[in-house]
Amino acid sequence: MLTTLAVENYRSLRDLVLPLSRLTVVTGANGSGKSSLYRALRLLADAARNGAVAALAREGGLPSALWAGPESVGRAGKAAVQGTRRTKPVGLRLGFAGDEFGYALDLGMPIPTQTAFYRDPEFKRECIWRGPVLKPATLLADRAGPVVRTRAGTGAWDQQPQRIGLTDSMLTAFADPRISPEVLLVRERIRSWRFYDHFRTDADAPARQRGWAPAPPCSTTTAPISRQRCRRSWRSATPTVCTPPSTTRSRARGWRWRPATTAGSS
Ligand SMILES: Nc1ncnc2c1ncn2[C@@H]1O[C@H](COP(=O)(O)OP(=O)(O)OP(=O)(O)O)[C@@H](O)[C@H]1O
Ligand SMILES: [Mg+2]
Repeated sequence: MLTTLAVENYRSLRDLVLPLSRLTVVTGANGSGKSSLYRALRLLADAARNGAVAALAREGGLPSALWAGPESVGRAGKAAVQGTRRTKPVGLRLGFAGDEFGYALDLGMPIPTQTAFYRDPEFKRECIWRGPVLKPATLLADRAGPVVRTRAGTGAWDQQPQRIGLTDSMLTAFADPRISPEVLLVRERIRSWRFYDHFRTDADAPARQRGWAPAPPCSTTTAPISRQRCRRSWRSATPTVCTPPSTTRSRARGWRWRPATTAGSS
């Protein structure tokens, strides 16, 4: 089960770490960031099919998808939103943690070159770890630019000789059942997520018919959920209701984007 979803610098979500339960209902006023949160989850799923860069291209490239507000926002959430200039490199970060493992990606702009695809982002970092918290000791696979290293059974790091493309996720470019079974496992788990959206909502819509229900447990939906129609496993779950706090900082305990020590440590 997913326990945390984290989003940084995506559309209106500047820095959000959201605790999840068996059933999480996201509510909020128009423009509060519900769709941004849903799209962030879809982007994570796209990475497992090597489609994250293409999905961002459909949004107009990374500059359009990145948080467009100021670099820093005060505690009160007050800051000039327009006309601010960035001084630090900015990246789009997405990640999740669950009981078994976690995964996070960091996409950034490429070094400027004479190419027509200069708006296509690159993978700067990807991490897979076991358990709910990213720590140096729990890290299983760590990608920095084109280089991937994986943890051997002994706990030592193996740096893989092959280089992977900067626009390819290691989930697809480096999922080898012999060398990196954990990467393959995470990829397949993410690929099993189901998304249901753009439902018909008229009286005759299949979603309103008796006996119909999306298949739990790995489902997300933007449709109204009728508890009557939900299957037993959902019925017993107490929903967590949350509102994405657009443009503000929100933290769930224990989330880290990077292991505390440098990439070279074990
Ligand atoms: N790159 C960006 N940077 C900052 N804000 C953005 C960016 N792209 C879109 N937004 C803003 O994000 C806000 C949240 O949009 P979103 O569509 O997620 O809201 P929503 O809660 O789904 O609204 P609705 O209930 O109308 O569907 C909007 O006000 C939109 O203008
Ligand atoms: Mg919406």
